[in-house]
Amino acid sequence: MRIAMIGAGYVGLVSGACFADFGHTVTCVDTHAGKIQALKQGEIPIYEPGLAELVASNVKAERLDFTTSLAEGVADADAVFIAVGTPSRRGDGHADLSYVYQAARDIAGAISRYTVVVTKSTVPVGTGDEVERIIRETRAEAEFAVVSNPEFLREGAAITDFKRPDRIVVGTEDERARQVMTELYRPLFLNQSPLLFTSRRTAELTKYAANAFLATKITFINEIADLCEQVGGNVQDVARGIGLDNRIGSKFLHAGPGYGGSCFPKDTLALMKTAQDYGAPVRIVETVVAVNDQRKRAMARKVTEALGGSVRGKTVGVLGLTFKPNTDDMRDAPSIAIITALQDGGAVIKAHDPEGIEQAKLVLDNVTYVDNPYHAAEGADALVIVTEWDAFRALDLKRIHGMMAQPVVIDLRNIYRPDEMESLGFRYSSIGRRT
Ligand code: UGA
Repeated sequence: MRIAMIGAGYVGLVSGACFADFGHTVTCVDTHAGKIQALKQGEIPIYEPGLAELVASNVKAERLDFTTSLAEGVADADAVFIAVGTPSRRGDGHADLSYVYQAARDIAGAISRYTVVVTKSTVPVGTGDEVERIIRETRAEAEFAVVSNPEFLREGAAITDFKRPDRIVVGTEDERARQVMTELYRPLFLNQSPLLFTSRRTAELTKYAANAFLATKITFINEIADLCEQVGGNVQDVARGIGLDNRIGSKFLHAGPGYGGSCFPKDTLALMKTAQDYGAPVRIVETVVAVNDQRKRAMARKVTEALGGSVRGKTVGVLGLTFKPNTDDMRDAPSIAIITALQDGGAVIKAHDPEGIEQAKLVLDNVTYVDNPYHAAEGADALVIVTEWDAFRALDLKRIHGMMAQPVVIDLRNIYRPDEMESLGFRYSSIGRRT
């Protein structure tokens, strides 16, 4: 099958490379000429484990190429995926669909035979109807179907998630489109990944419901963690104790500094707004959004308390800046709110991240970036672990203890054990575990 992928961002690039690896012929289209030029030369604009190799081998096999010309990519494609960004619209929290609609207009002008137009971007309920209307309005005689096929990839594990998904959701009621989508995903049936056909609106909503549910799960355990700290419980044991119940499940029960990233904050907000607009508010999600927002500032207060009530003039070393490990993505990373609040309180910040420093420099001012965790600890009054990179899990703690001005560690991801840290002489605090 021939596929055009509109938008060579995170989702488009990963999906395009994986479809090509299945044997389909894929053209990734992006308006950003510099990005396309770089991709043609084998430079990958994002950090995602395994992606550079996957792109290189499929380019070499001539199954994957890149262009700025949408018309060229779309002309004889069986399926055109819209994988452009849908950021939060400034001011009202709704998803900004201008890139999606522009893509729809451009696609309408370029298709030459029956084409399945697939929205992969996370879009609010009803967007597929609007995409269909736009294409019909631009080219009345065009033969096409608009399908919703949301992605459930996690950054850092995107290739595995694409190749071994728990499910593939396809929203369409068009029989020919069903056949095309079945053909595209056939290579996954070997792994027994179920292909779930629904109506288009249901598929659109399923994506938001999935992310909102996961964000709720995290927020729930975060609040239980706060309660554990007050009553003297251990949140990790609670998570295990409830997670072993299959009805609850053990995943997404790691308490931490609050969820971040390019998806959960934006999607929970967008779902909340849509639900309000339709007069069916999802109050649980409204609360999740509010609680998660407050949590990031609460983390800065936790650091302040660990330093006796004030951070003024104190040096705080920060380990981990990206919203989670194995990515360079800083979008809505908890580190931003935490560091900004600490700076407002007068702290001096030194920070290290294995992949995120370049992106962090764009969003955080007055931070001294250092090239390894030990330099972040050197002379610091407190060391805060914000992101659980593997590289932070086996630090030489004796060495760290020896180089800090005060041996204070605030571990917002619970990667160390309170008893071990205390026996090494640290004043250690973590999440949902009283020490
Ligand atoms: C998330 C979903 O997991 C994907 O299924 C979805 O496709 C994607 O959003 C999307 O909509 O595109 P992602 O944002 O890459 O993927 O990251 P997650 O691994 O889900 O983590 C999100 C945030 O939750 C991170 O800040 C992470 O630290 C936090 N988290 C996650 C916790 O605090 N505790 C947990 O137990 C799990």
